[in-house]
Amino acid sequence: MKISVIGAGNVGSLAAMRLAQEGLGDIMLIDVAGGLALGKALDLEDARPILKYNYNIKASSDIDQIKGSDCIVITAGLARKPGMTREELLAKNASIIKSVCLKIKELASGAIVVVVTNPLDIMTNYALKVTGFRSNRVLGMGISLDSARFANIISGELNIPATDVEAMVIGSHGEGMLPLGKLAKVKGVLLEEFITEEKISDLVKRTIGRGAEIVANLGTGSAFFAPSAAILAIVKAIVKDEKKTIGACAYLNGEYGIKGSCIGVPCRLGKNGIEAIIELDLDQELRNKLIASSNLIRQTAEQLGY
Ligand SMILES: NC(=O)c1ccc[n+]([C@@H]2O[C@H](COP(=O)([O-])OP(=O)(O)OC[C@H]3O[C@@H](n4cnc5c(N)ncnc54)[C@H](O)[C@@H]3O)[C@@H](O)[C@H]2O)c1
Repeated sequence: MKISVIGAGNVGSLAAMRLAQEGLGDIMLIDVAGGLALGKALDLEDARPILKYNYNIKASSDIDQIKGSDCIVITAGLARKPGMTREELLAKNASIIKSVCLKIKELASGAIVVVVTNPLDIMTNYALKVTGFRSNRVLGMGISLDSARFANIISGELNIPATDVEAMVIGSHGEGMLPLGKLAKVKGVLLEEFITEEKISDLVKRTIGRGAEIVANLGTGSAFFAPSAAILAIVKAIVKDEKKTIGACAYLNGEYGIKGSCIGVPCRLGKNGIEAIIELDLDQELRNKLIASSNLIRQTAEQLGY
């Protein structure tokens, strides 16, 4: 099993480490920035005698080295620089996604592609368009991270283990995300049995703001520990054919009343990538919000020609 990670920045290198240490396959780490990927791969290799585990990690600045990959994670992208508008950032990252996806199409036409680069929903749509792959083979990591954040924030509020909480976020990976407070559970019991509706709304707001909270504290860059863990869970579900239900940005073809664009919904993941889209029984208000969010993603993508 060959797994390539394109982009050896904070998220990509940590994802490569987690994937290698989990023994999911031979890892190829790629970055355009000189020896960045190689330096990180050599460093990761040096840990093997200490960890007593001979995982295989290689690296290159030459994207052709993704040839024959079974699974490819795209974390290549730019962060917003001072003075840069969102649209400018979007255009820069879209051009990176385009060049990378054309290479994937040429050299790894059988791969399953996991997009991580932001803005996630638009980049996943675009990756699907550029590769021309079947929609089950291109997905985005975003709402599984948001769901983990929601669960963690609930656990902090109730002072219970994070692993006791089941929480889900759907929709776009951004401010339009929809944390599903009414469906959140603690060991099978609805969250609303433990705290008031107002408190749940407060936790929802904190979840939506979590990414920005982390960015503000870091001072430079954005989150990478939990994002890389979320990448590991998705790639593992695919590589090990786990048939696990994990939230992912997926192309919808009528599900949730949305047709022809990608947005975050629960998906069953296995060796074929997205093997089923799970349709939750949402109330009309949430359904409308999800559709509105999808329309916004589609409009932005269309306006910008992605
Ligand atoms: N979807 C999510 O939940 C989520 C979470 C965290 C970060 N992100 C996004 O992931 C991306 C990466 O984040 P990061 O913190 O690792 O950023 P980073 O700046 O640390 O790393 C990005 C890397 O991409 C490389 N790169 C740029 N163009 C490339 C190309 N054409 N080919 C190969 N490599 C290329 C850069 O050299 C850099 O090393 C960003 O777009 C970020 O917003 C998404």
